[in-house]
Amino acid sequence: MYKSFITIKKEIVMSQVHSNKSKVAVIGLGKIGKIVATNLVKGNRPVIVADRKPEKIKALSDTLGRLALPMEISAAIKEADIIVLAIWYDAIKELLKQYAVELQGKIIVDPSNPIAPDDKGGFVKTIGDNESAGQILAAILPKNAKLAKALGTLSADSLENAAFQKPEPAVLFYATDATGINAEIEDLIRDNGFEPIQVGGLDQSARIEVFGDLHEFGALGKTVTVSEAKGKLQPQQFYSVG
Ligand SMILES: NC(=O)c1ccc[n+]([C@@H]2O[C@H](COP(=O)([O-])OP(=O)(O)OC[C@H]3O[C@@H](n4cnc5c(N)ncnc54)[C@H](OP(=O)(O)O)[C@@H]3O)[C@@H](O)[C@H]2O)c1
Repeated sequence: MYKSFITIKKEIVMSQVHSNKSKVAVIGLGKIGKIVATNLVKGNRPVIVADRKPEKIKALSDTLGRLALPMEISAAIKEADIIVLAIWYDAIKELLKQYAVELQGKIIVDPSNPIAPDDKGGFVKTIGDNESAGQILAAILPKNAKLAKALGTLSADSLENAAFQKPEPAVLFYATDATGINAEIEDLIRDNGFEPIQVGGLDQSARIEVFGDLHEFGALGKTVTVSEAKGKLQPQQFYSVG
């Protein structure tokens, strides 16, 4: 009997159970979600792709081929260990409530920047100057879920074009308070074609959100390599820099 395309794809993603890598799902297939899923496939990492619009799931899965498994959001969250929420900050808050049960115990990756267009053609922060999306989301996490602020420190263009850069990879900074998830977050970043650097706990989130000193649209102003990044961090912050 012939296996369906979805069954074959599911077997490929499920084969990760036998590898040392966690299963990852990208939820929200807009600019960032599509780029993250595409980078992962380029990095030979299977990925579950999910969105609230079935036609977007199918289109991306068809484009990316056998490593991209299409699923509805609820199923994707249940299936994956790492859930990348590639949606806007306010939508993340809603989704954490809506899928509070399914998200229990999962690793949640938040790339969000809490901003909205201003009336001058630019952007303005939608939370307090001293607040960060990372810290606010940490306070409303589903039970036993572990949050990492990651994959959001670059523009969509750089996330796409600087992936797998040679000879020196570009850096993606991340922050987390959770213990025991660093290897998984760093694998996720490396499989996206970047070198991970942890800047600290979630109290450092504002530094890697828009306008922060380590964001491309903040004082950083560009992508950086590891050697360039070292000059921007305090020595005690070289959590994961070799
Ligand atoms: N764009 C950038 O340069 C950039 C850089 C760094 C970080 N980020 C962050 O990355 C996140 C995504 O940004 P983006 O530029 O990719 O935005 P986008 O292109 O507008 O995509 C957002 C996606 O989220 C989907 N969505 C909205 N609400 C949802 C929900 N409740 N459940 C499931 N899917 C939902 C939207 O689907 P519909 O089609 O149904 O609306 C859309 O596909 C944001 O938090 C942003 O701050 C963006």
